[in-house]
Amino acid sequence: MHLRNTSKLGPEPKSSEITSEAAFNTSSQSRRRFLTGATYTGLTAAASYALARTLPELVHPQAVHAASSPLRTVTSKYSIADPQTPESKATSYNNFYEFGTDKAEPQINAKNLHTRPWTVKVDGLVKKPVTVGIDDLLAYRPLESRVYHHRCVEAWSMVVPWDGYSLSEFINFCQPLPSAKYVQFVTLFDQHQMPDAASGYDWPYTEGLRMDEAMNPLTLLTFGAYGNALANQNGAPVRVIVPWKYGFKSAKSIVRVHFTDKQPRTTWNDIGSGEYGFYANVNPTVDHPRWSQARERRIDSSAFPHSVPTLMFNGYSDQVANLYAGMDLRKNY
Ligand code: MTE
Repeated sequence: MHLRNTSKLGPEPKSSEITSEAAFNTSSQSRRRFLTGATYTGLTAAASYALARTLPELVHPQAVHAASSPLRTVTSKYSIADPQTPESKATSYNNFYEFGTDKAEPQINAKNLHTRPWTVKVDGLVKKPVTVGIDDLLAYRPLESRVYHHRCVEAWSMVVPWDGYSLSEFINFCQPLPSAKYVQFVTLFDQHQMPDAASGYDWPYTEGLRMDEAMNPLTLLTFGAYGNALANQNGAPVRVIVPWKYGFKSAKSIVRVHFTDKQPRTTWNDIGSGEYGFYANVNPTVDHPRWSQARERRIDSSAFPHSVPTLMFNGYSDQVANLYAGMDLRKNY
C-alpha cells in the first residue's frame, strides 16, 4: 500500500506484493454486566441473584463460551467451497502497520500484544453509551465458521475460515439512534505494545461503514480463524471482516465502535483518497491508480503464485450489489 513519510518502501509496491442485539434491553443490571465484563466477585447477593436471573437473556442459548482456543463453532450458510489458504500462510503474511509494514513483521512484533483484559467502547449516536467486556461480547452469539474470500487492495487474496457472528447482531444490541448513518471502528494504538508502528500515520487506525453495509449479514464481527482465537497479527481479540470490500476496510483489534451521522474519517482514505476510497468495494473494472485490479494472486497451498480473476464484489454480488444500486462505482471507489 502507499506509505506516508516513511523511507522503508518506495511509493510503488513491489511487484511481488502487487501480484500479490430488545430482549437485551430489559434490565439495566444485566446490560451493565454484559457491557463491562464484570464478574460476580464483589457483587451483593441481591445483585448476583438479579444477574443470575437475567443471564439467559444475556447469553444466547447456543452461545459458545470460547475465550480460549480452540473455539467451538457452528457451520454457516455463508461459507464458500474454495480451497482454503493454509493457516500458516494467513498468520505469517499480514498487513498490520502498527506492528510493522513488512508482511512478516506483524507475526513477530504482535506476539506480546495483551488481548485480556479488553473492552470495546460503544458511543456516539446510540441510546446509551456502553462499554463491553471482550469475553461477554464473544459469548453473545454462537460463533459461526465462515469461509470467506479475503482480497487485499494490493491484489493478493486468501480464502480464510473466520469465526464470529454477524455485526448486525451487536449493532442491534447497541441501539443506534435513527440519526446514525455510519459506524466507525477505532482500533488499539498503544505505543508501548506497538513500538514498531509505521511512522507518519495518524494512529489509531480507523475504518468505517455505512449503516446498511454494517447491517448486512455478511459483515462479520470476528473473534477467530481456523477454529482458533484470532492470532494477534490477524487482529486479536476482535476485528471486523467485510468480505466484499478490500481488506483495509476490515479493522483489526477494535477498541471503540462509534455511531455517527457523518461519513467518518478512515485511515487509508486520509492517507490517499485518490487511491483508497471510502467504499473500497472489490471491483475488477476499477483499477488502482498504480496497478490493475482485474486479477489477484491467490495465496493457497501451492508453492508458486497462482493468478485468478478478481470477481465483482469479491464474489458476493448476489448479497450486496443492491446496496449500491444507482451509484457510480467508478466515482465511489
Ligand atoms: N487494521 C489495523 N488496525 N491496522 C492495519 O494495518 N491493515 C488492513 C486490515 N486491517 C490493518 C488493519 C489491511 S490493508 C488488510 S489487507 C487486512 O487488515 C489484512 O488482514 P490479515 O493480515 O488478517 O490478512
